[in-house]
Amino acid sequence: MPYVVTESCIKCKYMDCCEVCPVDCFYEGDNMLVINPDECIDCGVCEPECPIDAIKADTDETIEDKEKWLLLNKKFSALWPNISKKKEPMKNHEKFREIKNKYDKHFSEKPGK
Ligand code: SF4
Ligand code: F3S
Repeated sequence: MPYVVTESCIKCKYMDCCEVCPVDCFYEGDNMLVINPDECIDCGVCEPECPIDAIKADTDETIEDKEKWLLLNKKFSALWPNISKKKEPMKNHEKFREIKNKYDKHFSEKPGK
């Protein structure tokens, strides 16, 4: 039962999550993080750290488009660089935290720097 980063993370990227992960299984994209489902040990420590509740257990039936987010975390955690230290959140994160449906307009396949 790995945990999964979902849509709210896009364009906010607060990064409180990656600092607490005991197995360093977060990976950084241009504007969101993802979790490697094969490395996650399901400890649940990261879930309450996210200020906007972007992290969910993969058993959570309330995740919209759940399959998409599971696949996206798997795919991009294999492509993006590992991150275990918090940096500054995205510019304009305040504006984006209330916006819904960010994927179509704002998701970026680019790796984080
Ligand atoms: Fe890391 Fe635990 Fe979160 Fe999995 S549930 S990503 S192991 S902190
Ligand atoms: Fe994203 Fe929340 Fe982590 S916004 S980077 S999942 S703390």
